[in-house]
Amino acid sequence: MSLRMLFLDMDPGVDDAIAIIFASASRKFSVLGISTVAGNAPIEDTTENARRLVDFLRMETTVFKGASKPLVRPHEIAYWLPGEKRVVPARETQRPDGGVPFHGEKGLGDTRLPRSRSSLRKVSGPEAIVQAARKDPEAVTLVATGPLTNVAIALLLEPKLPTLLSKLVVMGGAYGKTRFGTGNITENAEFNVYCDPEAAKIVFEGFAGAVCVGLDVTADPQNMLYERDVGRFRNGRKASLARSLIGYDLRTYGRFEAHDPLALYYAYDSSAFRTVRARVEVGTTGALRGHTNAKARTAKNGQLIATKVDFERFRKDLFAEINVPQKD
Ligand code: BDR
Ligand code: CA
Repeated sequence: MSLRMLFLDMDPGVDDAIAIIFASASRKFSVLGISTVAGNAPIEDTTENARRLVDFLRMETTVFKGASKPLVRPHEIAYWLPGEKRVVPARETQRPDGGVPFHGEKGLGDTRLPRSRSSLRKVSGPEAIVQAARKDPEAVTLVATGPLTNVAIALLLEPKLPTLLSKLVVMGGAYGKTRFGTGNITENAEFNVYCDPEAAKIVFEGFAGAVCVGLDVTADPQNMLYERDVGRFRNGRKASLARSLIGYDLRTYGRFEAHDPLALYYAYDSSAFRTVRARVEVGTTGALRGHTNAKARTAKNGQLIATKVDFERFRKDLFAEINVPQKD
């Protein structure tokens, strides 16, 4: 089997971390690098989380620190208000009363990993994306599961990026094609696009053919993991880490929303998805900040929007890959 070369751009993040575990466990993938971005937590935390995960999983890959804030706005994160059972966006320094960061204080729920050991590279996240794409034209799949700041900067650095990459898969947006198509951070917006809508606009305008896995697919209650699923993780380093991460979401929210692992899964097996071609327009102001409108009528050069996934297949593959102890 020939290895699929992956570059991950992300903001770990509990579900980003599960995507890293999946990518590291699968014999289909070679992870060339991971660029980090401010998103679920401040950049220092998402970067340290990525490095700790790479060390713990004994991955042979490099973490590159990316953007510390969105292109033109301050960085906001999602806070969970337990009493009200809802999520609100706010800056780090403006934590709402009683609010808890949705992904836990440091971004990985209550999972604590040993401090990272390696030194951080000087190359920035966006530069690393460009370098990987130039090194092996049309071979690298970029899976972006955080705000799109790094990808937008990479595109500005290298306008040929869309043709240099084999594929771009984005976890982002809410396409309103199903009843799960509303937002998760505001009524209209999905978190990653809300966080940096200007970057998302640049990316969707620049990347024809980008694959978008949005809330229509990932927020469908049938496409989530529940308490009954965690027993399927066996022993071993990867499986116990996954159990600990997912356990936090189960205890806190009663479910694990597999947003980012599902985006990765498109790179793993695109035949498990149904898609439509449409052009994504991103709202940047007022109540429409972060809103994604998929316009089928102007679909020429548009994106591929996931509308359905075979979740049973995903679940089976996730457990099969993560439970294999060969690299433990
Ligand atoms: C996305 O936002 C974050 O909470 C998750 O990591 C995922 O990338 C879902 O809206
Ligand atoms: Ca993420």
